[in-house]
Order: sequence, then structure tokens, then C-alpha cells
Amino acid sequence: MALLLSNKQLLFAGVALISFIGCLTPVFAVTFEVKNGNNTCIMAELSANISVKYTRADKEMNTVLVALPDSATVDNSSTCGNVTVAPLLVVRFGDGHSLSLNFSRNASDYQVDTLSVTLNMNDSAVFVNSSTKAPMTVSSSSTGIHASLNTTYRCMSATQVTLTNVNVTFSNMRVEAYLPAANFSKEATVCNADISTSTPAPKTTPVTTATTAPPAPTTAPTNPTAGTYNVTKSNETCLLAKMALQLNITYQNKTTVFNINPVTTVASGVCETNVSTLFLRDGSTNLTFVFMLNDTKKFYLSEIAVATSNGFIADNKNLTYLRGTLGRSYMCSAEQTLTVTSVFSINAFHLQVQPFGVSSGKFGTAEECQLDEDNMLIPIIVGAALAGLVLIVLIAYLIGRKRSHAGYQTI
Ligand SMILES: *[C@@H]1O[C@H](CO)[C@@H](O)[C@H](O)[C@H]1NC(C)=O
Ligand SMILES: *[C@@H]1O[C@H](CO)[C@@H](O)[C@H](O)[C@H]1NC(C)=O
Ligand SMILES: *[C@@H]1O[C@H](CO)[C@@H](O)[C@H](O)[C@H]1NC(C)=O
Ligand SMILES: *[C@@H]1O[C@H](CO)[C@@H](O)[C@H](O)[C@H]1NC(C)=O
Ligand SMILES: *[C@@H]1O[C@H](CO)[C@@H](O)[C@H](O)[C@H]1NC(C)=O
Ligand SMILES: *[C@@H]1O[C@H](CO)[C@@H](O)[C@H](O)[C@H]1NC(C)=O
Ligand SMILES: *[C@@H]1O[C@H](CO)[C@@H](O)[C@H](O)[C@H]1NC(C)=O
Repeated sequence: MALLLSNKQLLFAGVALISFIGCLTPVFAVTFEVKNGNNTCIMAELSANISVKYTRADKEMNTVLVALPDSATVDNSSTCGNVTVAPLLVVRFGDGHSLSLNFSRNASDYQVDTLSVTLNMNDSAVFVNSSTKAPMTVSSSSTGIHASLNTTYRCMSATQVTLTNVNVTFSNMRVEAYLPAANFSKEATVCNADISTSTPAPKTTPVTTATTAPPAPTTAPTNPTAGTYNVTKSNETCLLAKMALQLNITYQNKTTVFNINPVTTVASGVCETNVSTLFLRDGSTNLTFVFMLNDTKKFYLSEIAVATSNGFIADNKNLTYLRGTLGRSYMCSAEQTLTVTSVFSINAFHLQVQPFGVSSGKFGTAEECQLDEDNMLIPIIVGAALAGLVLIVLIAYLIGRKRSHAGYQTI
């Protein structure tokens, strides 16, 4: 087989392998903490892309995109505040740039009052040939970031805050101020972008005792039970999924394998023409599945993202799992491992999904996965082998009988 590969195919395989390895790099948000002595008052996990429009010396406008780097740190000007001063998180990054979040609260809620960005226009590596070298500070007081007190604000989806000449796009975000304990609260306030408009879910997720602490590490739990989840759009089911899911996460040198419990899982999602998204929330574990429909009417699972209560986040947007045809469903009864990153995989059992073209709330014709077909082959092969064996024994017996008859005759 290998000998038949042409140079072109080898090149393609090489490129595919390299891009596959590239996709394995997980997207981790950077964690920031503001303390007053030993008391943590603000915690934030931020992944942000900042796009900046500036004027060059030649009067042309230029736009650059700056991603918040892993090396970003909490600046000393951050504070837990007091009666007169509001809590403030200032994150420094790159050559003198910063991003700051100013919080406020009332009896029931807290919010990010102001988001400001300060850019060092003298950083010529980023702002090539800028007309001004003076620092630029812009801010916005409509951030949309608000949550109930004693809950973590959580937003997996990308959300944009618009400032003058600057757009900040957050994703995989967790923030909490006025912390009651030294870590994120277990309960979360999920942003609207993560909640389907068609399936209204409670904004605050109560934590179910069954899922707060994942089971003991390394020992795999029993097989998960299947749940049926759907997403609706104007009263019609647009995405149907039946699945039994087990997550396998390696984080902080520990591998944890735990099941998603369908009883405590809330499903929501969004259906668009060529993209369908399913969000599953089990306690403080959040899963996102993005399905795509391509020009040839084939659908596939293109992205899986996860966030758990202990701060683990993983995301891969370059998947091509669960491939099927529009109007039909993809089915796989056999166990299947969906590798998302080098540290996160999902063991899926009893899977049936139809992310597009669901009619009257029912699965269309099932397209079975290769694993199921292979499993079907085994009984067929065993059956055929047995039948063959019976035939051989029968023939042997008949020949034997004929021979012994012949023997009698010669005597
Ligand atoms: C902070 O914690 C450390 C170690 O737990 C302890 O030694 C220290 O006294 C604490 N400081 C305050 C101000 O509580
Ligand atoms: C607190 O503020 C939020 C919005 O910022 C508002 O919806 C809520 O009613 C306020 N609660 C109280 C008790 O004032
Ligand atoms: C938040 O938690 C703290 C400490 O557990 C408690 O004193 C406070 O009443 C809680 N606030 C709300 C609004 O639930
Ligand atoms: C959705 O269904 C409910 C009850 O079945 C009905 O009252 C409502 O008008 C429907 N809405 C739409 C947009 O079809
Ligand atoms: C979990 O993943 C690790 C590799 O990351 C693997 O060695 C282990 O067998 C997996 N466990 C289960 C139960 O899938
Ligand atoms: C994880 O393991 C690596 C190498 O085995 C070690 O250097 C590191 O300190 C460990 N980290 C934790 C958090 O235990
Ligand atoms: C559509 O998806 C199918 C299955 O993943 C793939 O074989 C086909 O090449 C894709 N076509 C286009 C135009 O992307």
C-alpha cells in the first residue's frame, strides 16, 4: 500500500499531519487574581483579541490585531477597593499595554462598569509607523458583563466590546468579583450568547451535588447513560442528539474521567443555515458542539469546547467528526473516542445526531458508522465459519461412511 503512494499523496499526508498537530494546541485563557492580603476578591480567566485602528505617519489608517498573550500579568494598580474605591483589575501585557476592568455591585448583582484599554503607541513592533507616540486610552461603560453575586460570570462564546477605534473580543471567559471564597464560585451566570434564544434556560445554574466534584482520578467510572438533547428554532426541533458522554481530562498532572449525567444536563443551542451549535451544561461543566454543513450537503462536527469548574478549558475548531448527509442522522452504537486536544477526549456511546434538516422532531434515516458495520461483520463471519465447519464435518462423515461400505465389500 505504502509503495503505491505518489509524491503528491505523501506531501498531502505530511501537510495533513502537520496541520493536525497544529490543531492539538489547546486554547487556554490566562488566569488573573487580585488579592487584599490573603483574601482574593477578583478572579478572571481571559482570552481576548484586541483590534486597534490607528493613524500612520503617512495619514493612512491601519488596523492591527493584538491577542492577549500568556505572559500578561496583574498590574500593581489593581485593587480590591473599599467603601469609596471600586474593585479594579488591571492586566499588563506586551510593551506597556494594559486592559482594565472596573467593577461595581448592588444588593444582588455585580458588573464590569468600565472596560478600558491603554496602548503604548510608541511600541513600533505593534504600531508600525504610528503618527502619535503618546499612550492612547479608550474605554466603554457598556460591557454587557454582569452576573448575580456569588456566581461566576461565564461566557464561552465570543463577545465584543466596542471602544473608540478599539474592539475587544473576549472568548472562553470567566470572571468573578466580590468573591465569597478564594476561588470561583461553583454557580455560574451564563452569558446570553451561550444560551439559545429558542430554549430559555435559567440564567443561574444551580450546582447539582452529583457533578460538583468529578469522581476520583484515574479510575474510569461505569459507562455513561444516554441523554436526548434538542435545540429548537421557532417551535421546531432543528437539532436532535442522543448521546452518552464520558469526558477524559488531563489537567495539572492528573487524569480525570467522568460521565455527563443526562438528568442534570441542560441543553440549549442555536441553529443557523450552515452552522448548528449545541451547548450542554451539567453542573459546572460546559460543553459546546459546533456542527457545519458544507456545499455538498454533508454535515460534520467541526468544534468541541469544554470548560470545567476547576478551571480547565480546551477547544478545537478543526474537527471533522460524525460525518453525515443532510436530512439523515449519523449513528454509532459502538464506543467512539473523539480526541479534542492532547489533554482532552470524549468517549461517546450510543450516539445518534442530526444537526440539520430535522423533520417533525424525529431522526431521519440513520447512517451507521464504520465501527458498527465492522461489529456487524463479526457475527456474520463467525456464522459463516460455523456453517462451513458443519458442512466439512458432514462431508467428512459421508465420505467416511462410503469408505467403510467399500471396505465391507472388499472383504
Ligand atoms: C496569610 O496566609 C499565610 C499562610 O497561610 C499566613 O502565614 C499569614 O499569617 C496570613 N496573613 C494574613 C494577613 O492573614
Ligand atoms: C442590581 O443591578 C441590576 C442591573 O445592574 C438590576 O437588574 C437589579 O434590579 C439591581 N438590583 C437591586 C436590588 O437593585
Ligand atoms: C454571598 O456569599 C456571602 C458569603 O457566603 C454571603 O454572606 C452573602 O449573603 C451572599 N450574597 C448573596 C447576594 O447571595
Ligand atoms: C409555539 O407553540 C406554542 C404552543 O404550542 C404556541 O402558542 C406559539 O404560538 C408557537 N409559536 C410559534 C412562533 O409558532
Ligand atoms: C484517558 O486519556 C488518556 C490519555 O490522555 C488515556 O491514556 C486513558 O486511557 C484514557 N482513559 C479513558 C478511560 O478513556
Ligand atoms: C507536573 O509534572 C511535571 C513533570 O512530571 C512537573 O515538573 C510539574 O511540577 C508537575 N506539576 C504539578 C502541578 O504537579
Ligand atoms: C464536505 O464534507 C464531506 C465530508 O466531510 C467531504 O468529504 C467533502 O469533501 C466536503 N466538501 C466540501 C466542498 O467541503
